[in-house]
Amino acid sequence: MIGKKVTAALNLQMNREFYNARLYLSMAAYFHSINLEGMAHWMEAQSHEETGHALRLYKHLQERGARILLAAIETPPTNWDNPLAAFEAAYEHECKVTREFDEHVDLARAEKDNATLNFLQWFVNEQVEEEASVDAVIRKLKLIGEHPSGLFMLDRALGERKVGADWPMNLELNPIGIVHSPFKEATGTPIQASMAGGAPGMVEVVPALADGLKDLDGFDRIWLLYWFDRATTLKLIVTPYMDDQYHGIFATRAPARPNPIWISAVRLLRVECCTLHVADVDILDGTPLLDIKPYVPQFDHLPAERTGWLQQAGNRPRTADRRFET
Ligand SMILES: [Fe+2]
Ligand SMILES: [Fe+2]
Repeated sequence: MIGKKVTAALNLQMNREFYNARLYLSMAAYFHSINLEGMAHWMEAQSHEETGHALRLYKHLQERGARILLAAIETPPTNWDNPLAAFEAAYEHECKVTREFDEHVDLARAEKDNATLNFLQWFVNEQVEEEASVDAVIRKLKLIGEHPSGLFMLDRALGERKVGADWPMNLELNPIGIVHSPFKEATGTPIQASMAGGAPGMVEVVPALADGLKDLDGFDRIWLLYWFDRATTLKLIVTPYMDDQYHGIFATRAPARPNPIWISAVRLLRVECCTLHVADVDILDGTPLLDIKPYVPQFDHLPAERTGWLQQAGNRPRTADRRFET
């Protein structure tokens, strides 16, 4: 159950995000008025994102059974001295929003509201990006100074920003089941199915989907796709378990991914109604399952000569350690 203080804080922030949407739309209108259409487009995209932030808060409040209260929204400023002044105002505003979220995090922690704490993490990360993207424009505007050709080029570049609708940021996934395993924490969990030494597990599939398991028992191995719900926050550069050097997250199978989706080709022992008994499990207990597919050697066992940094990595432990633990 969500507490009164957290409900009030999230309602306040939801209304602030609606204000932010209007502030950036007002900046877009200002840029249209001085014929900088690319900057206007950039601000419209920003406004669109802010509405998305407000709706995220709305949805969280609704899901937690809280009363949602929309409030009157104050009139935003309508004019700035020049493009630099408008982007500087946006930057200052984003810094203020970051402080607001920091306060919400403190409150959620004090109220022991872990669900809200987890929910707010997305915003904490988002604010880092928000400040950085506005700051990048400010730096370019300062470099350009009074040169109209530079301003024209920057305007064109900013006009290429993708708006939310072209770049779907929110996809809805519904788990189809849950994985049970002997592994309660990352430390000591095998890092690949091939290194799991037969570790046993059970996959419970939502009963409504039972018909979808027909004929699965004819396959020795199955792919499990799952959501690593205890992954650490995003890191683009990581030292994976199999090496002591840094690599890009997409060149590894480390946790800390933008979308913590994992795959394991486990051994299927038997199917009992909605329960799959499996072995070679390298998955944490209680992990939400997203999909099951048969493992087919003709499709999945493909020749590949180069295996990148792994070719030099040498022998490493076969179980995870604390490095990606939350
Ligand atoms: Fe926002
Ligand atoms: Fe923002």
